[in-house]
Amino acid sequence: MQQPLNVAITGAAGQISYALLFRLIAGELAGNQQSLSLRLLEVPEALPMLEGVVMELADCAAPLLRDVVVTADPEVAFRDADLVFLLGARPRGPGMERRDLLQGNAEIFSRQGRALNEVARRSVKVLVVGNPANTNALIALRNAPELSPRNFSAMTRLDHNRALSLLAAQCGCEVGEVKRIAIWGNHSTSQFPDLSHATVSGRSALALVGDDWFRGSFIPTVQQRGASVIQVRGKSSAASAANAALGQMRSWIGATPGGDWVSMAVLSDGSYGIAEGIVYSFPVTTAGGDFQIARDLPIGDFARERMQASAAELLEERAMVEHLFPV
Ligand code: NAD
Ligand code: LMR
Repeated sequence: MQQPLNVAITGAAGQISYALLFRLIAGELAGNQQSLSLRLLEVPEALPMLEGVVMELADCAAPLLRDVVVTADPEVAFRDADLVFLLGARPRGPGMERRDLLQGNAEIFSRQGRALNEVARRSVKVLVVGNPANTNALIALRNAPELSPRNFSAMTRLDHNRALSLLAAQCGCEVGEVKRIAIWGNHSTSQFPDLSHATVSGRSALALVGDDWFRGSFIPTVQQRGASVIQVRGKSSAASAANAALGQMRSWIGATPGGDWVSMAVLSDGSYGIAEGIVYSFPVTTAGGDFQIARDLPIGDFARERMQASAAELLEERAMVEHLFPV
């Protein structure tokens, strides 16, 4: 058995964490030879409830689970962390937009960014899930100047999976036959779920489904899916979010299959004319623990307009939290 991976999870008593933890200790993150040391962070009021979750972890008798640390102190949770899932933040309720959470949640990510800067491994991978995820990731990375911004990403894998599933259903094909879906921009209703490059068993997805369905049905359905789940379930998505978090982290530490990519929100380097300095979802390939934004994709006028609209929203969000960036 290798040295344990130190995996920190914030919001560990919450609903996404509850759907994630038991999959982690079953070996779904790094395989069934990789032991894990879990560091679970919560606010003090939620620690008693978290103790119940820890009892259940113990009751799994999972061979991969080396130890569990429970704490309300980010510096304890993040010490020597290899992989970090930042789930801890308020979720939205019916009628709210994700950006309505910004003021309430932003402080959490500046505090946690500073703690990561101080105590995490320099190779740490930090996945931000708490909403609004892109701008929270920006706050965290700006507060961790001694870590590379490439150590941070925000989750758009759930949007990516939603898009995959929806397209496969429309085409009557298996999800595995769909390649090169892209989510551009913010994990919000301004995101652009893009089929321009997508293929279904090697054939152009757009040619199969047509522009009317793409623009009139596919795009708004993916953009609104989080709100639809809240409306029907009464709570925001949890199991599908945990599944996506696991998938995004697994891609990041692993490798995307040849000829395909995944969507991941990372600090923009100006690719595709997207403003630098915002955390923006791009199609990326991964290998050797690193990611590369997919290069040289042809971008039509419709796509460019959608991509820039989401960038504009992220610039607005950034302006709302600039006071939290150290000078
Ligand atoms: P939840 O309310 O069930 O759990 C959140 C937990 O975070 C709570 O237990 C709370 O005590 C804890 N918490 C709050 N502040 C904290 C802090 N400073 N440190 C540590 N823990 C803290 O919510 P949930 O359903 O698990 O969702 C968590 C977040 O993930 C929400 O913001 C939600 O909107 C977001 N989310 C994002 C995506 C995505 O695709 N990016 C998908 C689903 C949900
Ligand atoms: C989602 O997309 O399901 C989450 O971001 C939760 C939400 O508020 O929509």
